[in-house]
Amino acid sequence: MAHLSKLNHTTDALDSIKSDAIAIGLFEDGTLTSRGKSVDKTLNGQISVAYKRNDIKGKEGEMEIFYSDQSPVIVIGLGKSKDFNNESIRKVGGSLAKKAITKKYTHIACENFGGKGTADFGQALAEGLILGSYQFNDYLTKKKDELFELKKVTVSGGSHVGLSKGAEIAKSVCFARDLGNHPGNVSTPSRLANDAKKIGRKGKMKVSVFDREKFTEIGMGGLAGVAAGTDEPPKFILMEYWGTKKSVKPKVLVGKGLTFDSGGISIKPASKMDEMKFDMCGSAVVLGCMHAIAALKPKINVVAAISSTENMSGSKAYKPGDILTAYNGKTIEVLNTDAEGRLILADALSYVSKHYDPAFIFDFATLTGAVIIALGHIATGIMGTDEKLIEKVKKSSARTGEKVWEFPLWEEYCEQVQSRIADVKNMGSPGQAGTIAGGAFLKEFVREGIPWCHFDIAGTAWDDIAGTAWDDKEKPYGPKAGATGNVIRLVLDAIGL
Ligand code: BES
Ligand code: MG
Ligand code: ZN
Repeated sequence: MAHLSKLNHTTDALDSIKSDAIAIGLFEDGTLTSRGKSVDKTLNGQISVAYKRNDIKGKEGEMEIFYSDQSPVIVIGLGKSKDFNNESIRKVGGSLAKKAITKKYTHIACENFGGKGTADFGQALAEGLILGSYQFNDYLTKKKDELFELKKVTVSGGSHVGLSKGAEIAKSVCFARDLGNHPGNVSTPSRLANDAKKIGRKGKMKVSVFDREKFTEIGMGGLAGVAAGTDEPPKFILMEYWGTKKSVKPKVLVGKGLTFDSGGISIKPASKMDEMKFDMCGSAVVLGCMHAIAALKPKINVVAAISSTENMSGSKAYKPGDILTAYNGKTIEVLNTDAEGRLILADALSYVSKHYDPAFIFDFATLTGAVIIALGHIATGIMGTDEKLIEKVKKSSARTGEKVWEFPLWEEYCEQVQSRIADVKNMGSPGQAGTIAGGAFLKEFVREGIPWCHFDIAGTAWDDIAGTAWDDKEKPYGPKAGATGNVIRLVLDAIGL
């Protein structure tokens, strides 16, 4: 885990802060903010001259360094002021943090880039800076001396409240990225359960963990079936956060915590199988949200449920053709042991449907390869049963810059997961609408009347080494490779943080 940990706020003038570099912004029309203007003066007007000579244009993403006998000055292009929004400032923060790391600046000072002091602007700046500074170097023991971290950023002006809120949220996203990036032999179901307990202690939450014996006994046949092939102890994790009156319906978050997906008996090809350590990223979204809730203690009620296991092919493993009975009593014909995510989620969704009165349920899962075919690594696939809830998700998506795209959950698709010999089967029609089939299956386990939205994050939860998911240019606050922590910010916005 490495990310910027000290984000200070000050009203002092930028050039009076002792740091390794200072950063200001320049709009495309040549405007510098008031803090920028005084910095330009100390540089004897170098920035305005460079702008007049067309050497620097103020285009979004542009970055130039100016030198004097004082701290170097990083000038960042902010684009057109009329298009400048929260997502722009997140990108500015991300680019700046990355630049500081390549330049080996330990402490930088920056202005608030023309933000009018609003809290959400400060929040976005903090998110950009911290998310952009994230690095996962935990296992590089030989290169230890070459590693470099940005330790401190001092922001001059803007909203103090927004900055500290953004910092807590971004730290929670970094925590979730770490969970995803640790390998399957470290991020085990037990580790997820222990992290849930730690978060619970900090946030005064009630945390319960059911082991194999307990969840099998109470009838979680989906989770028990998938977990049968592994000796790594599986867990069902429940967290309750009551931040307001108990009579207020809780918002419920459900996550797929598949800590390694080999495919089971329907085994996956060897190529890229290592990436299936990321198959617990749905649970990382849930734990990331609970991490932020523990820090910010909002006045809402939230329940979280995570089903966690490996999917392996040991001698006791479940097999194609097996029939499992989920927690709500529905029987499932297993046609492919690699469609395991929906089986473990079936129990979690049934459990929260039975034991709580949810305001709504969100579930997060790296559920289908098909969502990558449909949407690439750009957007998360969503679908659900309640138009208003889907609208809410889309609004939060627009506010946070985390893209979603809705799939239709029409009756015709729902019919495709009906089985001839059991209530449902764990695959739809072969070669068709695979992502919707996943959603149609899950719908069977959400109690009717509860607004529900399913997030298929298989395309957005991590970036492969080639850097296709979060292209550096498009998402400067994304990681170079590895887990992204995507949709945590969206979900926090949607649940009212
Ligand atoms: N974890 C995978 C989905 C996945 C695949 C995520 C590739 C990210 C990248 C899931 O458990 C799975 O294997 N799904 C199958 C379902 C199919 C057998 C119906 C799939 O997508 O192939
Ligand atoms: Mg699978
Ligand atoms: Zn899986």
